[in-house]
Amino acid sequence: TGDTTLDVGFVNTASCQSEITYIDGDAGILRYRGYPIEQLAEQSSFLETTYLLIYGELPSASELEAFDQRLRRHTLLVEDMKNFFDGFPRDAHPMSVLSSAVSALGTFYQDSHDPHDAEAVEISTIRLLAKIPTIASYAFRKSQGQSLLYPDNDFNLVENFLWMTFGQPTEKYDLDPDLAKALDLLFILHADHEQNCSTSTVRLVGSSEANLFNAISAGIHALSGPLHGGANSAVLNMLGQIHRDGGDVKEFVRKVKNKEQGVKLMGFGHRVYKNYDPRAAIVKKTAHELFEKAGHNPLLDLAMELEQTALEDDYFVERKLYPNVDFYTGLIYESMGFPSNMFTVLFAIGRLPGWIAQYREMINDPATKIGRPRQVYIGESARDYLPAAQR
Ligand code: CMC
Repeated sequence: TGDTTLDVGFVNTASCQSEITYIDGDAGILRYRGYPIEQLAEQSSFLETTYLLIYGELPSASELEAFDQRLRRHTLLVEDMKNFFDGFPRDAHPMSVLSSAVSALGTFYQDSHDPHDAEAVEISTIRLLAKIPTIASYAFRKSQGQSLLYPDNDFNLVENFLWMTFGQPTEKYDLDPDLAKALDLLFILHADHEQNCSTSTVRLVGSSEANLFNAISAGIHALSGPLHGGANSAVLNMLGQIHRDGGDVKEFVRKVKNKEQGVKLMGFGHRVYKNYDPRAAIVKKTAHELFEKAGHNPLLDLAMELEQTALEDDYFVERKLYPNVDFYTGLIYESMGFPSNMFTVLFAIGRLPGWIAQYREMINDPATKIGRPRQVYIGESARDYLPAAQR
């Protein structure tokens, strides 16, 4: 119709210009603000990468220290928010609790909702970065029937999240530095990925000038689906099922190729990467290092066999399907002690700086307009209404 172009799933449509993240899907390249993901994974921290994404440059040592201290002062949730967690059923999915709690959080800070007030956006940024790990750990503790722990601001952001998730009120928490470092690395790898489904959602919601809390809450919902952030737990379920069925990888790949009951190889394929996802390569290496220390995991062997079988199979070769970031993350999260319904929540904590950076870029871009895609109408042409007795 007219000059409207049909582009289902926005495969070819750029919705914005952005300076944040660069991806070359054919070459398997990912950079945040120009820095290769491999260098950030090796040398940076999640805190520093968060600063980089949001403010555009790596911080000096004193800027990083000030940012860290500021976040530590905002980790506490307003006490009334705690009642909120009591309202959910014990088996509520923590992603739903997280997104609901983030919109609820916004109601306590209604004086900082104006997206065009830079100070309001800044304080909302700090509050979300500092409080979402607290909310995420509370969603987990409620599902376990455990008491909620106050943040301990001697810990940094990631350590604090581990303490609030796994600590016990009556015992001194023995933080495992290897675990904290591995989780920090996984958060760096998830921190931004340009205009994916959840980030586009954050931008679309924000383009109506909705406040940052509501835009982030919408992004969390978008991330919850198994084709996006939910893939990490879907991979672990898939590996468990193959293991229980006797570990026949070739039989599973045959089912995928024949598209039997719509079965997919979860953790494989990507809209943009038509090559090895550079994040997956780093996660795979980390998984090996961790399991070397923690002990042999049969599901890791199965995952590697599955990867190898798929990479040598014409179906996957022709379609350029490679492992994505989620193929190995579930195995690591499980070994850290997280139940599978928390995996996507971990993705959300990692992606938060990217969502915030993209929201801020959008709000400050004079070219921004409210997002409003068109459609190609294929329904009935005009027809006359008939009263019910005549139909
Ligand atoms: N297993 C089997 N076949 C696949 C897979 C897969 N994982 N992924 C794509 N295909 C096939 C698909 O059936 C299609 O085949 P055909 O041409 O015969 O119809 C072809 O490859 C092209 O796929 P598509 O569905 O058109 O690709 P897309 O860009 O729309 O979808 C995707 C991308 C990530 C949703 C998809 O690859 C998928 O569903 N993967 C499994 C879920 C997953 O791992 N998601 C995590 C993505 S990375 C983390 C994140 O960003 O959230």
